[in-house]
Amino acid sequence: MRGILQVLAICSVALAAPSQLERANHVVHERRTAAPVGWVQSHRADADHIIPLRVGMKQQNLHMLEDLLMDVAHPDSPTYGQHWTPERVADFFAPSESTVSSIRTWLSDSGIAEDKVRLSPNKGWIEVNVTVATAERLLDTEYHVYKHPSGAKQLGCHSYSVPEHISDHVEIIKPTVHFNHRVSEDPTRLRKRANPNHLGQPFSGQGPKTNGAKIDAAFSLANCDQFITPECLRALYNFSYTPVATAKNSYGIVEFTPQAFLAPDLDLFFQNFSSTQIGQRPTLVSIDGGKSPSFNFNGESDLDLEYAMVLTNPQPITLLQTGDLVEGAGFDNWLDAVDASFCTFQGGDDPNQDGIYPDTLPGGFNQPESCGIVKPPFVVSVSYGQDEGTATHPYAIRQCNEYGKLGLLGTTVLYSSGDNGVAGFGGVCENSKGVDAQGARAIRFNPGFPGSCSFVVSVGATQINPGATVNDPESACEQVIFSGGGFSDIFSMPSYQATAVTNFLAVHPPPYSAAQFNNSGKARGFPDLSANGANYVVAIDGQFELVFGTSASSPVVGSMITMINDARIAQGKGPVGFINPAIYSSNFAPAFNDITTGTNQGCGTVGFTAVNGWDPVTGVGTPNFGKLLPLFLGLP
Ligand SMILES: *[C@@H]1O[C@H](CO)[C@@H](O)[C@H](O)[C@H]1NC(C)=O
Ligand SMILES: *[C@@H]1O[C@H](CO)[C@@H](O)[C@H](O)[C@H]1NC(C)=O
Ligand SMILES: *[C@@H]1O[C@H](CO)[C@@H](O)[C@H](O)[C@H]1NC(C)=O
Ligand SMILES: *[C@@H]1O[C@H](CO)[C@@H](O)[C@H](O)[C@H]1NC(C)=O
Repeated sequence: MRGILQVLAICSVALAAPSQLERANHVVHERRTAAPVGWVQSHRADADHIIPLRVGMKQQNLHMLEDLLMDVAHPDSPTYGQHWTPERVADFFAPSESTVSSIRTWLSDSGIAEDKVRLSPNKGWIEVNVTVATAERLLDTEYHVYKHPSGAKQLGCHSYSVPEHISDHVEIIKPTVHFNHRVSEDPTRLRKRANPNHLGQPFSGQGPKTNGAKIDAAFSLANCDQFITPECLRALYNFSYTPVATAKNSYGIVEFTPQAFLAPDLDLFFQNFSSTQIGQRPTLVSIDGGKSPSFNFNGESDLDLEYAMVLTNPQPITLLQTGDLVEGAGFDNWLDAVDASFCTFQGGDDPNQDGIYPDTLPGGFNQPESCGIVKPPFVVSVSYGQDEGTATHPYAIRQCNEYGKLGLLGTTVLYSSGDNGVAGFGGVCENSKGVDAQGARAIRFNPGFPGSCSFVVSVGATQINPGATVNDPESACEQVIFSGGGFSDIFSMPSYQATAVTNFLAVHPPPYSAAQFNNSGKARGFPDLSANGANYVVAIDGQFELVFGTSASSPVVGSMITMINDARIAQGKGPVGFINPAIYSSNFAPAFNDITTGTNQGCGTVGFTAVNGWDPVTGVGTPNFGKLLPLFLGLP
């Protein structure tokens, strides 16, 4: 600390009182609206503790991202499918020279030695290891240690500031106000024992818990309304396809520790539903210390892998196991890990960047991040999410743009849309100012992120109605969970959905005020499509249980897209990448089963209602694989 102050004094000879000067002209850059859900502030962070500070710099050309994505993803575009190379993506969006030098000058003027400051290989971040005391001075903030009931700890602050002239060059700075949100915080709430009748009951904050009761029933196509199996899904979605190009294809499933699969559970599932797969395992990619198998929390991982593996057999599945058992991880961590091609990119011969490789800085805080350890799979399904209200806008926007870049590269990113209808996790809603609230003031809907990002495919949930068969129309899911859906408070309406969403709002105006949701007709609506999310038979902890949620819907849709990619690859074509512009187009409408019944209640309302055409409950509907495949095969 003393050393840094001395350097500072030398660098700023002409300037009186450096510390005051730095704080003058500081402007608040990011501030949390509420305490991080589930985390409790414990104590001030140790001033000497070293943290890896990362400054996410303002990128260039982001205003063009949506149009460029349409160029490669809209079925009418002459350049459909002409995905970008990672080098082109990294170069095109890299921060300007003046941004990079402004940040460098700010840091060196603040007493940080220039040789400690590193530009990330993807050019988006400036990285430097500093003490907590230095970070507090740079950002005019206080760091605290926060604790989570799971035992996890995280360092963070409530808000931070940067000098005004720097503000325009910065998107976000980490670690600061952003918290790792594990979505299946209480995974047991997705489970229930066989046959309790929850139909029509509002979701309670606690949700059902399993008591480990075993399902004793013969599964068959005749009782898919009570037990969903891979066979039911194949029948529901006209989905039968055996892949032929598995070596060239890829399908990734992201899991956040402490969620992890159990190998005996996979085998138990295979034994009953796909016996030739006994012994098959996903290919583990460990990100930031992620290990598998783990213990205790197996529901989400078992569900995702059992269904994805059987529905795409024999396609190998890549398991992106993210986070260690101590700290866990957030969405940024898996994004960093698939940055592979960005990280190996040498970035030309700019001498400014030669300092990047190798990293010789001794000592320090934690181990290096898992950056660029795996090529982005062509399809990635993530059954986790967080409330928009718990993310700052700069954080959500920067991350959303990364999904857009993955789309440019040809990857389809699917996120489950949430299980609480128009409410947030645990049924939480907001006051009219957009802050989490309780009771009568909790009137505002709480959209789920990243599903609300315009550059991901948001997947909602449907159900087979009780007593109905796989040949009858499904409804929006109203058993145990309600399909997450609504309108973003952060993202504006992308062009690809403008016709569908505008039509919905005009023909079926929701009976809610602007205080309840962004009803301007300019906000991003979600989900984009849906698939069954009720009564999944899943082998968990040695027995079969029923599981509910958009968590189930996302890997099922991902499996279908992966098989479509297989057929395209077999014809010498590329993967489909970002599918939203295609699935909203009129040509593709016949390839979806429009869902026209059911609602997604929450926040003391019935929520939105499924209607003809797109709706903020089930999107454009559920896929009919047999019809979808030739449409995608017909594209270049
Ligand atoms: C910070 O320290 C860690 C741990 O020693 C090291 O792996 C990392 O590369 C350092 N980062 C920078 C920017 O020097
Ligand atoms: C799984 O298969 C075994 C062996 O065929 C059978 O005895 C058992 O009933 C099946 N389990 C379920 C839950 O259907
Ligand atoms: C509604 O969404 C649009 C598009 O994102 C935005 O411009 C507008 O400010 C939002 N309205 C309110 C009241 O937040
Ligand atoms: C199922 O897909 C096939 C093409 O594989 C198509 O001919 C058929 O019409 C589809 N069935 C239904 C019920 O949509």
